[in-house]
Amino acid sequence: MTDPARAQDDWTLVLDGFDPADEGRREALCTLGNGYQAVRGAVPEREAGGAHYPGTYAAGFFNRLRDEVGNAVVETESMVNLPNWLMLRVAVEGVWIDPLDPTHLLEHRVTLDMRRGLLSRVLRFADAAGRRTAMRQRRFVHMGCRHLAGLQTVVTPENWSGRLRVRSGLDGRVTNSGVARYRDMAGRHLRTTTTDEIDPETLLLVARTTQSELLVAEAARTRVEGGEGVRPGRRTVRERSRISHDLELEVTEGRAVTVEKIVALVTSRDVAVSHPALTAVEQLGEAPCFQALLTGHELAWDQLWRRFRVDLSDGRGPATTETLRTLRLGLFHVLQTVSPHDLDLDAGIPARGLHGEAYRGHVFWDELFVLPLLTLRMPQLARALLHYRVRRLDAARRAARLVGHRGAMFPWQSGSDGREESQRVHLNPRSGRWLPDTSHLQRHVGLAVAYDVWQYYQATGDLDFLTGHGAEVVLEVARFFADLARHDPAMDRYRIRGVMGPDEYSTRYPGAAEPGIDDNAYTNVMAVWLWHRARDTLAALPSTRRAELIGRLGLTPAELLHWEDLCRRMYVPFRDDGVLEQFHGASRLAELDWANYRRRYGDLQRLDRILEAEGRSVDDYQATKQADALMLFYLLSADELRELLGGMGYALPPEAIPRTIDHHLARTVHGSTLSALVHAWVLARAHREDALDHFERALSSDLADVQGGTTAEGVHLGAMAGSVDLLQRCFAGLETRAGALWFNPHWPERFGVLEFSVEYRGVTLDVRVSGREVRVAAAPGPGTPVRVGCGDDVRLLRTGEALRFVAASGAAGRPAIPEPVIAPVEDGRPQPIGRDGAIGRPRRSP
Ligand code: BGC
Repeated sequence: MTDPARAQDDWTLVLDGFDPADEGRREALCTLGNGYQAVRGAVPEREAGGAHYPGTYAAGFFNRLRDEVGNAVVETESMVNLPNWLMLRVAVEGVWIDPLDPTHLLEHRVTLDMRRGLLSRVLRFADAAGRRTAMRQRRFVHMGCRHLAGLQTVVTPENWSGRLRVRSGLDGRVTNSGVARYRDMAGRHLRTTTTDEIDPETLLLVARTTQSELLVAEAARTRVEGGEGVRPGRRTVRERSRISHDLELEVTEGRAVTVEKIVALVTSRDVAVSHPALTAVEQLGEAPCFQALLTGHELAWDQLWRRFRVDLSDGRGPATTETLRTLRLGLFHVLQTVSPHDLDLDAGIPARGLHGEAYRGHVFWDELFVLPLLTLRMPQLARALLHYRVRRLDAARRAARLVGHRGAMFPWQSGSDGREESQRVHLNPRSGRWLPDTSHLQRHVGLAVAYDVWQYYQATGDLDFLTGHGAEVVLEVARFFADLARHDPAMDRYRIRGVMGPDEYSTRYPGAAEPGIDDNAYTNVMAVWLWHRARDTLAALPSTRRAELIGRLGLTPAELLHWEDLCRRMYVPFRDDGVLEQFHGASRLAELDWANYRRRYGDLQRLDRILEAEGRSVDDYQATKQADALMLFYLLSADELRELLGGMGYALPPEAIPRTIDHHLARTVHGSTLSALVHAWVLARAHREDALDHFERALSSDLADVQGGTTAEGVHLGAMAGSVDLLQRCFAGLETRAGALWFNPHWPERFGVLEFSVEYRGVTLDVRVSGREVRVAAAPGPGTPVRVGCGDDVRLLRTGEALRFVAASGAAGRPAIPEPVIAPVEDGRPQPIGRDGAIGRPRRSP
């Protein structure tokens, strides 16, 4: 067998041997999917339990269950684990074999070919009588035909001839039990309604969810291919919620037989479907053999990879190959979670992919870290994913109303219908205690949604989207935050109290009866940013549409003037030494004895659990789970931030920035994979090596399972997408603003040359970055010239032509940029908006 290290290249991941303790990570990393459905890289011959969890999921397929926790009834919505179609076992001379049993296993290797979207497995085993058998399995989840998947098994008896039985089935006896912490709660979401044999080769299983009454149909066709004259005997095995075919084969020493299982999965969420069972059977009836399907699948991946091309070359040694492979692994899993199939799916971006059951498949703010990647390569996909939020705007309005506010309050965790899905209790596995969970107080998620809408518009200039839907989202979120901000007469400033920032380790003040902290700097500043953008949004709309929207939302001039006032008089907490404070009073909390805790526990990522198990509370300390105040430097340039703060009457002198970064970094435990991403970005210009350490940590979040066990429960999509995004937007300095594409490369030499493709304003651009140099080539063909800039040098790029720029050295931070607006705002000053929506003369501040 070849050395696994050599077998893998920058497109291939090789996992050798079988280690039960590592199987969960391997299953998540080897998940195959197409944005519509996904199946974990579990072995087909074993059921869920012990090391194995054969999870199968469809995007947006949710169900709710109730539990009693203490005296309370809690209801949770989960992405449902669907019937297991992988099921395939073999028997040698009538005896079922468990090849992974150490007494049988001779060899085991799994290879993930990311270029082709193909998972291969080679194994050899021997039974008690010394009969040795080799097995090769290959599988795909079709990237072109969303419903189809295939599993091919080639069996070669190495030193025996005789009877081989293959059982291939559909197993509806599945539950949601992939996350140990949730196992005490209800997990049975499905009831099998039908098991049927459609024809001698084809089986059907239909199941219905218990509450949402969604249907899922799986049809499977199992054939023996290739062996001339091989006519297997067949028997249908019917069990409760499970149906299988047993194929009896006479095999000959050294002669391979190939068993092909092709599966169609259809749900009642699909469009253009009468009954999922009908469509599943029909799809399967038309499906060709494994090889023919594989060819089409590879073509679909090839086309996708062209759009999402990322290459590193001429770097220093094997580190480049490794980095490239890990980057591609991230891209691969992002594209398996959200793909062109999502264009008509109404599914959001689940934080943990379609790869496992952590966070129950919910959608958080993580799309903030994923969308920039998609917007620059497949803007229509980014738009479709934003529509997931647009469709839930009414639910967000209802949520705001219920807590006595106007506007729209998007939920911290979102599932099927956009109501708040955050858990209200969570288990600390370290102490075994169930604890109140107040994470729904992270109102900042709405700011992220509005930010995503605005960034999408900046990158694409898609006025149609902004006019039709985006503007309404921006304005309603702006309105909610304006309502949340209350005037404090003592300070004569506006404050937002009783919320949580991104740091989930600061949920309340010490000893406070009520949860929430006051004036989270990130929330307050981004709210101000949003009120500015709300003004720009209105300015960008065609006047008739603007007037209609203002009329429909009942936006009054007084309300808009109030937003302006808020922009000038929000409160932002600063320490006496000029450091931006995370929230009001944060610096008065106790300092943790970091050296002591590091010595005792080593890994402090889950400091919350450690302290709770000791009878303390992480809330009492200056300890931060993940980048919070520093998120401001991730989302805004230093100049934008300075300008926003300046407008509120606060100064952020350049020397206060490194002090702010150092202060927060020293107290952050990086308990979220998003944290390393943000810190890599924030440190990129000033602390190069530290930034690269954070980048490498973010990049390897799942491959190295940096959180020590969470990858098995699903990949971290934000870190995966965000790492690639770091290369393009941070290290290559790519920006879309003011109707142009800008570069300010600050490329780490050790990674050699970076090449990638983007789609900008309908033109495909090939970008090559090395050191401070960037070349941009526009694909030939029709298309309007686009503007490309670097520093002060802005040029027009026509299709079929190329440009070269060299960034001036020594530029620190992102380029000094004006407010990122497309719509001209006169003098850069606030414009009053009349009752008819017309933008008038600039006003003076009172
Ligand atoms: C982080 C959140 C994140 C969520 C889902 C949590 O651990 O604190 O910021 O949205 O995971 O990825």
